[in-house]
Amino acid sequence: MTSGDVPGTLPESLLGHLLVPATEFLGVTEQAALASARWVGQGDRHGADGAAVDAMRREFGAMPITGEVVIGEGEKDEAPELYVGEVLGTGGMPCDIAVDPLEGTDLVARGDGGAIAVCVIGAPGGVMAAPDMYMQKLCVGATARGHVDIDATISDTLDTVARCYDRRVKDLSVLVLDRPRHEDLIEEIRSHGARIKLIPDGDITASMSAAVRGTGDHLYMGIGGSTEGVITAAALECLGGEIQAKMWPKNDAQRERLKAFGLGDTDRVLTARDLAPQPLYVLATGVTDGNLLKGVRYFSDGARTHSIVMDLCTRTVRFVDTIHMFSRTPLREIRL
Ligand code: FBP
Repeated sequence: MTSGDVPGTLPESLLGHLLVPATEFLGVTEQAALASARWVGQGDRHGADGAAVDAMRREFGAMPITGEVVIGEGEKDEAPELYVGEVLGTGGMPCDIAVDPLEGTDLVARGDGGAIAVCVIGAPGGVMAAPDMYMQKLCVGATARGHVDIDATISDTLDTVARCYDRRVKDLSVLVLDRPRHEDLIEEIRSHGARIKLIPDGDITASMSAAVRGTGDHLYMGIGGSTEGVITAAALECLGGEIQAKMWPKNDAQRERLKAFGLGDTDRVLTARDLAPQPLYVLATGVTDGNLLKGVRYFSDGARTHSIVMDLCTRTVRFVDTIHMFSRTPLREIRL
């Protein structure tokens, strides 16, 4: 496919390059999910993460891209693979890459639901290389996009979102990470009457779930990882949702680090325009069952994965159900 074949406006940096279609990246998240799902319930978050990282890096390595990791496993001296600045691919379409090979490492270690493998492909310079620290986030779907304000009180936000959904506050479901730092937030949400789903981990998954109608989730709020915030921004852009965020440094060293990134003003509200100004594709594959995606299911000679492929070039969102055959002999049966 050439860039000219694609509806929508392509960033100038990609004009004249062969555009690798979004679905070609499916192997990246599918293989990461297949590899890490073997670790479900094994009590080894590092083993699960390492398996996802290896698989994801191998898949990216075989792709006709020149992809630079802007959000990865850490800086070069901390992470041997998928480190920030690593260039992946056999050469071709230039792109930014943001990955969370296993979002929800502890979920997998415990065998809990909601873990995914996820990656973002952006135009060069299209994804923010955010420093890894905490970030305050407010995420909603298209129904409430343009109506919320991270600086508003919790009760005002709940009232606003309820109005957008044409329902009462008590009919809303708010996703919040179950952490001591959220005690006050949880108390405020409860006292205003909304329902809460306390999640053990996985705020990318939670934010995407809040942005898709029919999941029963309406907003995600609270403090989670900043790199997850960047990936969330790209995903919500594809889903028509909205993120508002503020960096949340824990100490002076982090405050200094933020200054080096031009993010020294911690009152500044970051939006998708800052966090992911030119995403192209976001792909995620379920590792364990969640509201949005099913987890990996293995059978005797294969496995089944469930993925979402969000594509801003073709303006499509695909749910992809794939059967992977592990043996050369034909599968005994394919099930619906
Ligand atoms: P990992 O999968 O990398 O362990 O991250 C899980 C996660 O729950 C994220 O979804 C979230 O943004 C972050 O950790 C919250 O951090 P903390 O566990 O320190 O509260």
